[in-house]
Amino acid sequence: MKKWSILFVAFLALVGFQQAALADASALKPCKNCHDISPGMKKVVGPPLFGVFGRAPTIEGVPFKAWDEKSLDEWEANPQKVKKGAKMLYKTSSAEKRAAIIAALKELK
Ligand code: HEC
Repeated sequence: MKKWSILFVAFLALVGFQQAALADASALKPCKNCHDISPGMKKVVGPPLFGVFGRAPTIEGVPFKAWDEKSLDEWEANPQKVKKGAKMLYKTSSAEKRAAIIAALKELK
């Protein structure tokens, strides 16, 4: 009996984990209109985002040394505020959504 309950708990944990992973990836859905997020590293409208977390910006004119929580949060909230004339025409006003996006970007490695 005990064995079954351990298995059951493990099963629930696995299902929960998979759902969390799915929720993460879906946060990047709007980004995919303009960015390749696969290891293929294709330039689409914007630069590829695979491995973006922790690396230096590939675009000119942003005042950051690396894309981390803080810089990504500022960029996502308003690219034009970070860089005059930024070509990324997409903003995420919800701090909660930005956090979900950043969590998903960290997984792109
Ligand atoms: C409408 C098209 C569009 C959408 C949607 C979009 N981007 Fe962008 N993004 C761009 C463009 C264009 C650039 C280049 C900006 C420039 O050079 O001024 C860019 C640049 C970036 C960069 C800098 C990359 C580097 O290599 O330095 C990051 C990070 C980024 N976008 C993240 C995101 C995220 C995360 C999302 C989804 C929430 C997103 N973008 C949605 C068009 C888009």
